[in-house]
Amino acid sequence: MCGIFGVISSREVAPLILDGLKKLEYRGYDSAGLATIQYSKNTQLGELFTRKAKGKLINLSNLIKKQSIQGHLGIGHTRWATHGKPNEKNAHPHLDFTGQIAVVQNGIIENYNDLAKSLELKGIKFTSETDTEIIPHLIALEIENLLDKGLMTNGATLLSAVQKVLSLLEGIYSIAVVWSKAPDVLVVARRQAPLVLGFGEGEFFCASDTSALVGLTHTFLPLKDNEVALLTRLGIELYDENGNRQHRAPSLLKGTELFADKRNFRHFMLKEIYEQPETAQLWIDRYMPSDFLSDHSIAFPIKKSTLEKIDQIQILACGTSRHAAMVGAYLLEQFAGVPTTVYFASEFRYSPPPVSPNTLTIGVSQSGETADTLAALRMEKVRRDSIKDPNFSFHQLGITNRLDSSLARELDNVMDIGSGIEIGVAATKTFLGQMLSFYGLAILFASNKQTRPTQEILDLSNDLRLVPKQLLDLIKQHDALSKEIAHLFTETKDVIFLGRGINYPIALEGALKLKEISYIHAQGYPAGELKHGPIALIDQHVPVISIAVPGVVYEKVLSNSQEAKARDARLIGVAPDGPESAMFDELFSIPKVSEWVSPLLTVIPLQLFSYHIAAHKGLDVDQPRNLAKSVTVE
Ligand code: M6R
Repeated sequence: MCGIFGVISSREVAPLILDGLKKLEYRGYDSAGLATIQYSKNTQLGELFTRKAKGKLINLSNLIKKQSIQGHLGIGHTRWATHGKPNEKNAHPHLDFTGQIAVVQNGIIENYNDLAKSLELKGIKFTSETDTEIIPHLIALEIENLLDKGLMTNGATLLSAVQKVLSLLEGIYSIAVVWSKAPDVLVVARRQAPLVLGFGEGEFFCASDTSALVGLTHTFLPLKDNEVALLTRLGIELYDENGNRQHRAPSLLKGTELFADKRNFRHFMLKEIYEQPETAQLWIDRYMPSDFLSDHSIAFPIKKSTLEKIDQIQILACGTSRHAAMVGAYLLEQFAGVPTTVYFASEFRYSPPPVSPNTLTIGVSQSGETADTLAALRMEKVRRDSIKDPNFSFHQLGITNRLDSSLARELDNVMDIGSGIEIGVAATKTFLGQMLSFYGLAILFASNKQTRPTQEILDLSNDLRLVPKQLLDLIKQHDALSKEIAHLFTETKDVIFLGRGINYPIALEGALKLKEISYIHAQGYPAGELKHGPIALIDQHVPVISIAVPGVVYEKVLSNSQEAKARDARLIGVAPDGPESAMFDELFSIPKVSEWVSPLLTVIPLQLFSYHIAAHKGLDVDQPRNLAKSVTVE
């Protein structure tokens, strides 16, 4: 899970690469590096230069300020370590044994051990512990082979060598390759890991994500699986895995212009928390126009005829997306009456349930690039496609924030949560967007299957329309309160979050946010489970945050909270202000709303609470240690 960027231009490329990597840094920030080829008119050959630095991109930028690097062709990488420690030695680009070929890679080469052994037998010495280093060595050997057969020292030879080497690799990857002896070409390829090509004026780019192309071009083309591209100053040639030339029209970049402006906020995460009223309103305007119940085809990507065939739903997701899916499952089952199961995508792939008919499989992924989710969805498609029974219907839906992602490209039906680019590694506004999408689906199923009285469906729709304003008030109120009390928790080691029913996933999400950015151990439990074991952990040093919203489980949650308080826990409530809330030592008060919509509000104080503790501790809120925004390895 890394970011790669490459460019061929008539300008100096080092600043372009640094800028591109900056926009990809959310993908990983353990180390960064770049390689450029400087062309010499005298020798008509190129010379390869590299710079690498451990840690964030700023270290590489600072290094380049001291040791500048020239060239009109180059590749760069920002790393999230998989194979080998996050140090300079393991930072990309990796070079071959001749020092002429440089490669950056995003993904994992699964058979690298076997390939490395065969290279070692040929006397090749490795300088890093990465899986990537085999690639430049293999390319160099293949080039030697091709030159022996009489091929010329040029870009076509590099392309042939890369194509040959790709056939040896197993795993998921995207790569960019330069060779000093072919100083006018850049060769790129992908298998399952993302890679897009950018078309500038006399300059061409490759990047892990379209966000890195913003400001450079408006035109891009996602590379398809197993395709290879040759970038020159004159254009881009595209080839399929059999070496056949491909022709496809590029697309226009949309929306991504909103990228990465922190405005006056100290961190992206805080800015993104504050954007929630606006993104909720955008979602409502788009998916719930006044006549959406009579004509849902306006925005939802599922046809009425398909809805009627669906008897059950399975949802595959990871992390925060899985928590949104759990809220969704509650709504789909309890509100719309459709049996729904949520799976950890990473587990589903290896222990799926028996295939059942008339099932909708939903993949939820903010980035649309999470390898576990994509792999589970692909596997499920293969399982389903193998069933030839005409009465057996199978449908897939993706819920994502990135219409340019692999998930969006691979699934026929996609729901865009439309939350705008999220830079903070901890998901906030996209969690809200994902939950809203499930509210939309639950309403859709309930109205089409007539599993709820029309009035209740209208009530829920009307309650949802009030949410943006409620969010606005809540954020202001709890930003101030969280900031005020954050210092009380900087020494805290463990926190327990309790929720029940539709708010149980919010307890999980609150705990995840705290772990991710504040590095405080936290656990979310269904409140009724506390007495079955976790209560043994409680004393005055373990705060308990209890989400208590009037509804089917209100009294039960209050009793469970009392049990924690009786064991000296500092009790923090996320609850409406009222006589019952007197039991809490601190109260994050929320408006008295219907329990159905409450998760959209109860999550807000928990996001702000984690944010302010992390900010108070001086931690790197937007790029927490060991994490990356999109996890493109399994
Ligand atoms: O892009 P995805 O939604 O598929 O990502 C899934 C998780 O990796 C992600 O939600 C992760 O848990 C976030 N860092 C949560 O803040």
